[in-house]
Amino acid sequence: MNTSKVPELALFPLTAELNNQGHLLIGGCDVVDLANEFGTPLYLFDELTLRRKCREFKDEFCKYHPDTLVIYASKAFLNRASALIFKEEGLGLDVVSGGELSIAHSVDFPLDKVYFHGNNKTPEELNLALDLGVGRIVVDNFYELEMLNGLVGERGISQNILLRLTPGVDPHTHQYTTTGTVESKFGLPLATGQAEEAVNQALSASNLNLLGFHFHLGSPVSKIQPYELAMELLLRFAREMGKRFDLNLSEFDIGGGFAVPYTLDSKVPTIADYATALTGKLNGLVSGLGLSRPRLIIEPGRAIVGQAGVALYKVGAIKEIPGIKKYVCVDGGISDNIRPALYGAKYEALVANKALEAEREVVTIAGKLCQSGDILVRDINLASVHPGDIIAIPVCGAYSIPMSSNYNAMPRPAIVMVKEGRGRLIRRRETYQDLMSLDLI
Ligand code: LLP
Repeated sequence: MNTSKVPELALFPLTAELNNQGHLLIGGCDVVDLANEFGTPLYLFDELTLRRKCREFKDEFCKYHPDTLVIYASKAFLNRASALIFKEEGLGLDVVSGGELSIAHSVDFPLDKVYFHGNNKTPEELNLALDLGVGRIVVDNFYELEMLNGLVGERGISQNILLRLTPGVDPHTHQYTTTGTVESKFGLPLATGQAEEAVNQALSASNLNLLGFHFHLGSPVSKIQPYELAMELLLRFAREMGKRFDLNLSEFDIGGGFAVPYTLDSKVPTIADYATALTGKLNGLVSGLGLSRPRLIIEPGRAIVGQAGVALYKVGAIKEIPGIKKYVCVDGGISDNIRPALYGAKYEALVANKALEAEREVVTIAGKLCQSGDILVRDINLASVHPGDIIAIPVCGAYSIPMSSNYNAMPRPAIVMVKEGRGRLIRRRETYQDLMSLDLI
């Protein structure tokens, strides 16, 4: 099937194709059949794309810096089935809560490869992490440093830690997802002297073993230069700390934030671009500063799961306001994907049961939730749409389901993993009964 007429396919999972009827296929499955079988809204994950992205990160970074550990940022999307895939692919995991940690533990994820992040880990969460033996705790602030040292001391053990430092570099992301600047709620700033004080305290904390530094600039960071600047600032700082306190930087964690294209006109670095530039910069800096080569840790979330995920909706009401706008209303919205409303995120879309249809029109895809901001895609050129059609939105694998809600008492969608012509339910749709199951009268 000649699919060059449908450029949007490039944003869909690697297995995306069209059949003769102009239906979208993912992982060898006709998505219209999946929508009928499992209902809508429905989220699909393509197993091949997921696994390829894991491997691409490992291969590309290890090519130039063999001692690289790729830890998947769970917050982008984690459930038990995806955790198993990351385990099988040999990745580590970045978790930020007792919940994410518990999901990892439930599939026997090797916990020595788990890095525990967060700006306000509770004592209960830290105790759970210590009970389970997580590999590294990434300490964010002085309160945590002191509390953790105490909790570890009570057990008579020692715990490997990294310190999260704020380099003071603006990655120019949406302000809600910028974390590398001095005023951020995350980490200890270099500029205020607090980073140095934290190194001093961490090295004198008798139960903690400081292995290195972490930074995360924001998400998505579509330029390489902010990473390079932050790496330079932190490695210079590490050399300084080496001289002053005898610190040996054995791990250097440069966070995540690697961008993916959401729309056809977006130009962002590829995984290979990030890998070549960042490992090159690291190797150059390390030799220039006379440091020994640390283990490199990277924390991709979006760039692993983003493209693998597709959201499917069924069209219901179509409302034309003559001369003004045509709304195509679908059966989901901000309850399953809040990103357009929250960040102004842009997406493409395809009518999955008529991808090859020539007749087209400009419409706005609206959700069914009770607020005017519940718009998924504005002013998009689609095949002419009718009630019952299936709309597929690509690059929905990251931060849709994890940020979903029960607003308007909407049950969360089902999720299906597709592979080689088979769709396997990896999370069932919530029911009305589920919605009430925690309520007490
Ligand atoms: N590491 C740390 C410490 C992070 O805070 C994050 C994301 C990542 C890694 C992974 O970033 P990624 O590679 O996925 O860009 N809800 C927003 C994104 C928030 C990201 C939060 N931290 C969105 O929907 O775009």
